[in-house]
Amino acid sequence: MTLPSPLPYRIGYGEDAHRLEAGRLLVLGGVPIPHAARGAVAHSDGDAVLHAVADALLSGLALGDIGHYYPDTAAEHAGLDSRVILQDSLALVREWKYRPANVALVVTLDRPKLGPLRAEIARTVAGLLGLPETEVGVSFKTSEGLAPDHVQVRVTALLVRDGD
Ligand code: C5P
Ligand code: MG
Repeated sequence: MTLPSPLPYRIGYGEDAHRLEAGRLLVLGGVPIPHAARGAVAHSDGDAVLHAVADALLSGLALGDIGHYYPDTAAEHAGLDSRVILQDSLALVREWKYRPANVALVVTLDRPKLGPLRAEIARTVAGLLGLPETEVGVSFKTSEGLAPDHVQVRVTALLVRDGD
């Protein structure tokens, strides 16, 4: 397989946002948020962290985005486990002979406070990426009331070419 570029490092960036609605489970980074009154409205399980991490991996190699591989119009993707989306994106990165070195993610959510779950989210995302949890930075921000009905996630990822 031909490498997409000779760069030893590539930076990826991903974002995702979902509307929050009562009666749905909120899952972030594969971790169910036990004290959330509302969860994400989505075609899949709505895990905005895993969607944004997957997009960051794909964007780092200019491989498009998860909507390209998993159109939200496809009936077979309804309720899809986002861990599958991330695993597929990671497999593509590995096929192109790169691997994630570290990721930094920011979750913007007004309620509930997520601080107590920081380590669990870092550990879970790291596990899915095959990284030590020290290589997954997890930050939380409120929107200061500007977007109380949404969860928004932004992620940067550093990809390293294997063999370097
Ligand atoms: O957005 P703001 O700067 O007001 O956030 C203050 C602190 O609250 C941050 O340090 C962040 O770690 C924490 N926070 C949180 N859970 C959220 C939003 C913010 O723990 N949902
Ligand atoms: Mg999403």
